[in-house]
Amino acid sequence: MAEERKSIHGTWSSRWTFILAATGSAVGLGNIWKFPYMAGDNGGGAFVLVYLACIAVIGLPIMLGEIMIGRRGRSSPANTMKALAVEANTTPAWSLLGATGALAGLLILSFYSVAAGWALSYVFNGFQNITAESSTTSFNDLLSSPTSLIFWHTLFLSITVFVVARGILDGLEKWINTLMPMLFVIVLLLCLYATQSGAFIQGIIYLFQPDFSKITPEVMLEALGQAFFTLSLGMGAIMAYGAYMPANQNIGKTAISVAALDTGVALLAGIAIFPIVFANGLAASEGPGLVFVTLPIAFSSMPLGVFFGTLFFVLLSIAALSSSISLIEPGVAWLIESLKIKRITATLLLGFVAWFLGLFSALSFNLLSEFTIFGKNFFDATDFLTNQIMLPLGGIFIAIFVGWVMKKENVLEELDVEENFIFKFWYFSIRYISPVMVGCVFLYFFI
Ligand code: TRP
Repeated sequence: MAEERKSIHGTWSSRWTFILAATGSAVGLGNIWKFPYMAGDNGGGAFVLVYLACIAVIGLPIMLGEIMIGRRGRSSPANTMKALAVEANTTPAWSLLGATGALAGLLILSFYSVAAGWALSYVFNGFQNITAESSTTSFNDLLSSPTSLIFWHTLFLSITVFVVARGILDGLEKWINTLMPMLFVIVLLLCLYATQSGAFIQGIIYLFQPDFSKITPEVMLEALGQAFFTLSLGMGAIMAYGAYMPANQNIGKTAISVAALDTGVALLAGIAIFPIVFANGLAASEGPGLVFVTLPIAFSSMPLGVFFGTLFFVLLSIAALSSSISLIEPGVAWLIESLKIKRITATLLLGFVAWFLGLFSALSFNLLSEFTIFGKNFFDATDFLTNQIMLPLGGIFIAIFVGWVMKKENVLEELDVEENFIFKFWYFSIRYISPVMVGCVFLYFFI
């Protein structure tokens, strides 16, 4: 029976495509740019430990839930939630969860595109004769130029819109298939370089030795938010991709592969970056510029560095692209289904909104730096609102929906499993552990 339902937007051509697309969505700036700087801002090991725990205990069960919901509903997250709520004889208002998710996606895309613009501009960095000082200066120069930031932001968002407008089901596969493994190899290469940097052990200790006194409510909320962000959870991205998943694919194994690959890339990025930070006397708490300041130093002093540096930032931009696509797709699919408009119209419309909001993020580093919301500039405020509030909140509701609203027999049917030990364990996590833990972190933070 499950075999008969198909999304109007199509289906991935093979099982491998879903894994690639979901990994493409998960692996992006979140792993290579955000994870290292957040770990650095929050004192290293303690943050990493909480982050890993959040991935395993909260993120993974919810990822499974999201894929399962998506595949059962076979439409955009908003319409999927509505259909499954009706199937479970409850209020169709659950579609609001999909709608707010689509909104969160646009908000994330607005600042994500600005940071992806940095990566794009670094393709032309040159990677020669770079010192710790000159690297810091060039990054600050970039931030202080409204025209450069807006130019790169506009370019990145235009590429995203172009790809999504053409439809994501065919184009994506060919690209990710070769480029993602290449990015992985360069990150490994950087790790190798880091072992020669003279501060390798120091970097590893920083990253993996937890100082429990550093675990504060803020660190917990940041680690939780980062776990959602890096796995692309809580707003329907993975749900939208799940809608295009073949019916005979094993959801559990798939979710584990995606989460493991994503976590692996983030940890490798950390292992590559911190030794370079310490070897060059930079501050681990450098902030959003961390990767952009440290890696050029490494590239400029390694053999074939110009080649590897350029290639790295090309691949990073593409990894960001395969993520940004999944930020806009839930909204696009929803508009197509509800308003019966063309894909290109829907994409242009939402792309424009994200672009416009992104202008404020770009300007928050220069012209609008004085303008703050709760002490954060626009870029950081959007980041906080989405990653630390909207995604975990979305996660709670997804968990509640799977664990308490959907009928258990439907969940079992869609996962195509028996009620075995692993199922029971997962079902318990999604009913109790995930929502309660996220709730506790919220309470702990706000009280
Ligand atoms: N996970 C991506 C990254 O790490 C970003 C991303 C893509 C995302 N889609 C998402 C984050 C949906 C949250 C929700 O770069």
